[in-house]
Amino acid sequence: MKNILVTGGAGYIGSHTVVQLIEKGYTPIIMDDFRNSHQTVIRELEAITHQQIPVISVDICDQQAVTSSLEGIRIEGVIHFAAYKAVGESVLNPLQYYRNNVESLITILDWSVRNQVANFIFSSSCTVYGEAEGIKEVTEETKPGIVRSPYGQTKVIGEQILTDLKKSGAALNILALRYFNPIGAHPSGLIGEFPIGKPNNLLPFITQTAVGIQSELTVFGNDYPTPDGTCIRDYIHVMDIADAHVQGLHFLESTPLRGVEFINIGTGKGTSVLELIQTFEKVSGQSVNWKFGEKRQGDVAEIYANPAKSKQLLNWSTKYTTEDAVRDAWRWELNIRK
Ligand SMILES: NC(=O)c1ccc[n+]([C@@H]2O[C@H](COP(=O)([O-])OP(=O)(O)OC[C@H]3O[C@@H](n4cnc5c(N)ncnc54)[C@H](O)[C@@H]3O)[C@@H](O)[C@H]2O)c1
Repeated sequence: MKNILVTGGAGYIGSHTVVQLIEKGYTPIIMDDFRNSHQTVIRELEAITHQQIPVISVDICDQQAVTSSLEGIRIEGVIHFAAYKAVGESVLNPLQYYRNNVESLITILDWSVRNQVANFIFSSSCTVYGEAEGIKEVTEETKPGIVRSPYGQTKVIGEQILTDLKKSGAALNILALRYFNPIGAHPSGLIGEFPIGKPNNLLPFITQTAVGIQSELTVFGNDYPTPDGTCIRDYIHVMDIADAHVQGLHFLESTPLRGVEFINIGTGKGTSVLELIQTFEKVSGQSVNWKFGEKRQGDVAEIYANPAKSKQLLNWSTKYTTEDAVRDAWRWELNIRK
């Protein structure tokens, strides 16, 4: 059984990936200090997978703690999820974002190289495409526009660090997966997205408005050049994203790479804000209290993935629909409010 170190494994995408890794015969080891997740996630993961999951609770920026906690453990692959992820917060606290996101990556890469880890997967994001004005469907070759937020910059810098490390001759086999907009939850309803404070993402805001935690949802802008005037994004079920990591490991295990592979992880289909609200209302039978508000600075009108490369290299494509994702997110929301 191959040990896979999953940094940020207690978080939203990491926890779902842990489930898929176990299902496919890997042994995940979670490294997470729960700064943006709940300890109860581990109990739920053990309930879903019927097995104990090793957890190392350290700050991944702390090189000494990382090294001593992994002493004597053979790791075949690392999936590095741990990072801060809120765009707005990163504008207010840029140093906190640069420090955590860049330092944790350097620390875990350094450890991986020194310990002859074979494979490494980095959580990148479609934010690296920035404001690629006028381009709706992005391929990995799309020329990026301006990346305005410190959060987005940490992903651009992260990709550059990986590229430079490979250029230096490091043996580590590296994939950078550029996720589009993860939504949904595990179909069991036991794990899902658990925003601490006010949600930054649309679907948790919708479900929290439906249960009355938020009084009203604001839809930012109604005159974008899209069919209904609201922004269009590529929403993808978190289970599909989790699966892409397992396929990513399979790919890395069979393909020695000379450089870093950057791969879009999206559905290839755009959904507008109003369409997502309507899907929620249809699936849940609940109505959502929403209103139009001002546009937010930096929001592009429309962006979705061209997923051809993920299909070709990873032999991966999505299995879940937007409706599945909304239904699972709603089940999760109801479950945590019990
Ligand atoms: N969720 C999204 O919308 C989205 C989209 C694109 C990319 N990503 C990237 O995917 C990754 C995972 O995102 P997520 O939504 O699961 O986030 P999350 O906040 O739910 O999970 C991140 C986990 O990392 C842990 N962590 C952060 N810094 C740490 C540190 N220094 N030491 C130990 N643990 C630490 C947190 O406690 C948390 O459990 C991130 O790198 C994020 O930037 C997320």
